[in-house]
Parts: sequence; structure tokens; C-alpha cells
Amino acid sequence: MAILEKISALAKRRGFIYPGSEIYEGLAGTWDYGPLGAELKRNVKNEFWKVIVQERSDVVGIDASIIMNPRVWEASGHFKSFTDPLVECKKCRRRFHINELEETGKNISICPECGGEMTKPKAFNLMVETYLGSIEGEKVKTFLRGEITQGVYVNFKNVIDSTRVQVPFGIAQIGKAFRNEITPSQLTFRSREFEQMELQFYVKPEKEESEKWYEYWKNERMEWYKSLGIKEKNLRFRQHKKDELAHYAKEAWDIEYNLEGNWKEFEGIHHRGDWDLSRHQEYSGEDLRYTDPETHEKYLPWAIETSGGVDRAILFFLIDAYEEEQLANGEERTVLKLHPKLAPYKVAVFPLLSNKPELIKKAREIYDTLKEKWMTTWDDRGNIGKRYRYQDEIATIACVTVDFQSLEDNSVTIRDRDTMKQIRVEIPVLEKFIKKLLDGEEIEKLGEIINQ
Ligand code: GAP
Repeated sequence: MAILEKISALAKRRGFIYPGSEIYEGLAGTWDYGPLGAELKRNVKNEFWKVIVQERSDVVGIDASIIMNPRVWEASGHFKSFTDPLVECKKCRRRFHINELEETGKNISICPECGGEMTKPKAFNLMVETYLGSIEGEKVKTFLRGEITQGVYVNFKNVIDSTRVQVPFGIAQIGKAFRNEITPSQLTFRSREFEQMELQFYVKPEKEESEKWYEYWKNERMEWYKSLGIKEKNLRFRQHKKDELAHYAKEAWDIEYNLEGNWKEFEGIHHRGDWDLSRHQEYSGEDLRYTDPETHEKYLPWAIETSGGVDRAILFFLIDAYEEEQLANGEERTVLKLHPKLAPYKVAVFPLLSNKPELIKKAREIYDTLKEKWMTTWDDRGNIGKRYRYQDEIATIACVTVDFQSLEDNSVTIRDRDTMKQIRVEIPVLEKFIKKLLDGEEIEKLGEIINQ
């Protein structure tokens, strides 16, 4: 079975990702995150925010509206140029993305669904329309944002005027974007509603300065994915050819993931120059120039953009972490080796038996303490082996079991997801122990520390 099918099945079975509006036969290109997916998504976004905003003094974050004045999209060029080439079947009226038909080697003059004759390629605008206002006939047509980026540009002056940032500095944002994709496909990879995590980093409009920061951010973003566990062999950069460049970009490099031999884009690093600020300055009539505090020189800075897809990143974190292992006893286990920072649950607590009140009481006390600190789950169903298999599939880092010995010597067993090793730990040092495990230390070495 191909990896995408396995991940789709696991995502549905365990509550990471469900098809959108499923009980009404779904809605193409929409997905809902279940209890585990919501945690994973929160963790991905928190890690982005921590590294890009919290830990830096040269980046601030904002959270702009999804619906904006339609003139924003005229100015940004999306109204005119945010298009994909499509062909339409004259018989069944189905539409196809021309590049995707070409990629699959299909003949673009005959409909792959009904064999009908196709139209010539035409540009199809990806912006999703919406209408505001309560009186029919007086509604204003606008758009759901096609990229989160424009919310940052229209607030550039506000941020300059209300904070103490100085060029070079960045504005980061995470949020939903919408595109009327012709062929949504591959689980969340190409959806019509998705989330982006972005940084617009403003630099002096000078070649050397912009090249320095461009390289810096390319490297930072690649390292971020590696630091969260994506295997190096599955990552690469690819530069956009001239005819591929988006209307706003002078230069673009994608970070791509190796999906079973097909390299797939999931983040773009773009040199946007002063395209956006100059267009908004022209269309709004506002002076958007930055004033250098020392020289008093006024200029429109250039922007280096890093634009990642939260959903695509999640999909590739899941795929990269997925392993099927053959165990010594002949059984197979499926394990999601997600990085501890991303795992939805860090700890699971079990009473060895579910019908012994004294075990349950002690396990509950531990659970109540640990859940103050980390996302912790409780399980008292089935036998221990089944509970471990279940927790492995949802990436839980540590399983803590309270057994009869716990009642005598106040210790528990703790079992590590990746090595499946177990050791006994005294309850007073349990938190310290789990913290080290989450920091990536090996369980055997920790055993020595605790037993000293
Ligand atoms: N602000 C620049 C921008 O939006 P983009 O390359 O069009 O650039 C950036 O999009 C990222 O957003 C992509 O690398 C991808 O991860 C994500 N993305 C774009 N379209 C998507 C879609 N239809 N479904 C899921 N993610 C998408």
C-alpha cells in the first residue's frame, strides 16, 4: 500500500485528520483535524512562533483578517495574475489542471473522464469569492484571502508606527488561506482551505543586503524542519525557473519533500522586492516608505518571504515519522516516531488492571499531576500490550504503568516509544525523568542517572 493511503487510514482511524463534512458525503478539498491532529497542528504552529517570533528580537507577529477590502487584491496582483492554466471538457464540463494532466502523461486534448473534446487552455483565477452585507442586491463581492501575506503588507505602516522595529526586521503570521484549486488531491497536500505560516523580513533595498538575508532565511527554514525530525535525505531545495516565478517574485526556492520518489514543495523562500509595498502605496495613496532613524533617508524596503504550509508540513511530518517494525516475537508494530515537540501526547498513564481500585487510584494521582505539565492521556482498556501498540500509533513518547509493586515501593515502570525499553522509576523523580526523555536523552542512560 502506498504511504499516502497508509497515512490516510491511520489519520482517520486514530483521529488526526478526517474528510470535511463527511456525513454529507464530504466537500472536495476540505479536511477537519481530529483530537490528535488538532494537538499536532498546535504544536507545529507553536514551534514556528517560538523560533520565529518569541526567540528573536527582530521579528514581531500579527494576526490579520481573512476578509479584506477587495482593492487589496487588485493592488497585490492576485485579481489579475493569481491563476492556474486549466482545460475544460466540452462534453462533461469537468475541469483539469493542465500541468497535472501533463505530469501524468495524459493526452490533454481528450477528457480523461469521458473521452470528450477539451477546450484550449485558459487562465482560471484561484481566488475564492464571498459576499458581505445583509441586503440582497446590495452585497459587496470580496474574497477570502488567497495568501495570508497581504494582511502583513497592509499593516506595514501600522507596525512601524506602533512598535520599535527597525530595518532589518520581520513580521510573522500564521493563518488560513483559501484557493479554488481545480484538482484538490493527495489528502491535505492540495486543499481549498489550508493554513500558512509566514515571515516577511524587510531589508534595505540593496542587492548585497538582500542576498545575505535571503541565504540566511533559506538556511534557517531548512534547519527548522531538520530540527523537528524530518530526515535529511528526504529534504532538498529547488530553484524556480524564470517561467515558474509567481507574479510577485524576483527569485524563489522551494523546500521539497521526497514523497516516494516525487519531490513535493511545502515551503517557498521568495524575494518579493518592493512589489507589494509599492503597489499598495500606489493603490492606497498612503506613503508606505520607511524612514531610516539615523540618516532620515526614506525608502521602500525589500521583502524576503518564507512561506510554509502548515497542513503540508503536518502531512510530511506524519509520513516521515511512520514506521512499520518487525518485532522479535514475530509481531509487527506501527509506530509514529514524531519528534517529542510535535507528538500530540507526551505521556500515557495506565493502571496495570482496570478492576483494581487501589491501582486506579494511584495511577489517577500520577495522571492528575502529569497533565498539569504535559498533554497526558489515560488508558485502562484491554491489556498492556494492546495499549502500547495504540500509543505507538499515535506517537506518545512515554507510557507509565502503575502495578502491584508500585503500591509497595512507590515506583512505576516507564516505557520509551522508540526503543520499547522499560525501566523502573521512583514516583518522586518521575517528572524529572520524563522531561529528560522528552529532551531526547536515551532511556538506558537515564536509568543509570536515576538509579545512582
Ligand atoms: N505568500 C506566498 C505564497 O502563498 P505559495 O507558494 O503559493 O506562496 C506557500 O504558498 C505554501 O502554502 C506552499 O508551499 C504550501 O505549503 C502551501 N499551500 C499553497 N497552496 C496550498 C493548497 N492548495 N493546499 C495546501 N497547502 C497549500
